[in-house]
Amino acid sequence: MTRTLILGGDDALMARINVLPGTQVVALSSETIQAERFDLLRSLDPQALPDLIMLCEELPIEWSLELARATDERYPTIDLVLVGEYSAEVVVEAMRSGVRDIVTPEAPDSRLVEVLRRAEQHRVAGAPLTSTPGAAVPAAVNPEDTRVIVVVSPKGGVGKTSISTNLAIGLAEQHPSEVVLVDLDLQFGDVASTLNINPTSTMEHALTDEAAEDTFVLKTMLAVHPSGFHVLPGADSPAATEHATGRQIRRLIEQLATQFAYVVVDTAAGLDEPTLAALEVADDVIVVSTMDVSCVRGVRKEIELLLQLELLPASRMVVLNLADRQSGMRVKDVEAVIGLPVDVVIPRAPEVQLASNHGEPIMLKGRKKGGPFVKAVHQVIDRLARQGKSADVKHRRVEVA
Ligand SMILES: Nc1ncnc2c1ncn2[C@@H]1O[C@H](COP(=O)(O)OP(=O)(O)OP(=O)(O)O)[C@@H](O)[C@H]1O
Ligand SMILES: [Mg+2]
Repeated sequence: MTRTLILGGDDALMARINVLPGTQVVALSSETIQAERFDLLRSLDPQALPDLIMLCEELPIEWSLELARATDERYPTIDLVLVGEYSAEVVVEAMRSGVRDIVTPEAPDSRLVEVLRRAEQHRVAGAPLTSTPGAAVPAAVNPEDTRVIVVVSPKGGVGKTSISTNLAIGLAEQHPSEVVLVDLDLQFGDVASTLNINPTSTMEHALTDEAAEDTFVLKTMLAVHPSGFHVLPGADSPAATEHATGRQIRRLIEQLATQFAYVVVDTAAGLDEPTLAALEVADDVIVVSTMDVSCVRGVRKEIELLLQLELLPASRMVVLNLADRQSGMRVKDVEAVIGLPVDVVIPRAPEVQLASNHGEPIMLKGRKKGGPFVKAVHQVIDRLARQGKSADVKHRRVEVA
């Protein structure tokens, strides 16, 4: 049961949260709170503290932040969440004041459930929250153990997004809340639509200086998929991120790698600047090919180039997707052309397209009902586990200023 105190919210928000499973809500109007000021904090029963305080937009923001600072100092296990749309400056100030997260009043129920669940987990764990004003974000995971997995291919439409989204779901089944999926197809990324999520923040916001300077701020920009992993979706318009530099992308992935055990990166076709930047910080690379001759040749060229650039870590995998007999090629022929063994073969399976068209990745059907695609994704996961983290020294391209 998550005990939630809503301050200054409207009836609609209270009604929505009230019907979510496992919540107990108390709401106070903006007038009551402003009349009580800090007596409100003193009047909280120490035996029945809320797990979560939601500070809504009807309250003056200075007041919300003041209350957040005081609560964080006195009751560090209470989660503080701002509800509303705020400027980047307010977001930064809020995080420094101990605010844990920011949601919009229109956030989907899945997002609210995530906020409530996390607050309850904190109470159960009894751990003070990591929100000392101005403090650097402590690493949630040891970066030595993090795996940055980059999915690439020279060609479009070969299944990069299908593999990366389903891989994130499969990894999150085993490591809930420890996985983030990054849509690095900056121009035409479709991770959000593939997962049927409606994000409030995207890559456009994640590449701002505010997010680069403060990992707390970056974390508030991630969407949460109901199956238990975080998502950084692509920007709404290709123009929004067209000037993103390799340095920014590397910084972003490195920040995420301090917070999540698995960073899965979906990329655009070919080797554009963001993809090369991701490869520089990759622990594992999954190269996707189909049985189409031009794709197989493209994969060979891409692998040759990555080897020359020293951007192909030892922990690499070749996945042959959309495999069928109609191409006239056999797996052996593909291996002969690309010069590497094929590690996992995924047959063409109509249910994959059907599932992704419905915004419900096939992985959610489970091992029994998901068919060969789900089985293959589990093979990829098992292989990643067997391979362990590569001890490669990562290679950085020389950057011309
Ligand atoms: N094994 C499979 N069997 C059947 N359909 C598949 C399979 N893998 C992927 N698809 C379908 O192929 C289409 C393209 O897949 P996807 O979007 O994952 O490719 P992509 O490489 O990310 O493409 P792009 O380069 O355009 O981003 C999708 O409709 C997807 O559902
Ligand atoms: Mg794609």
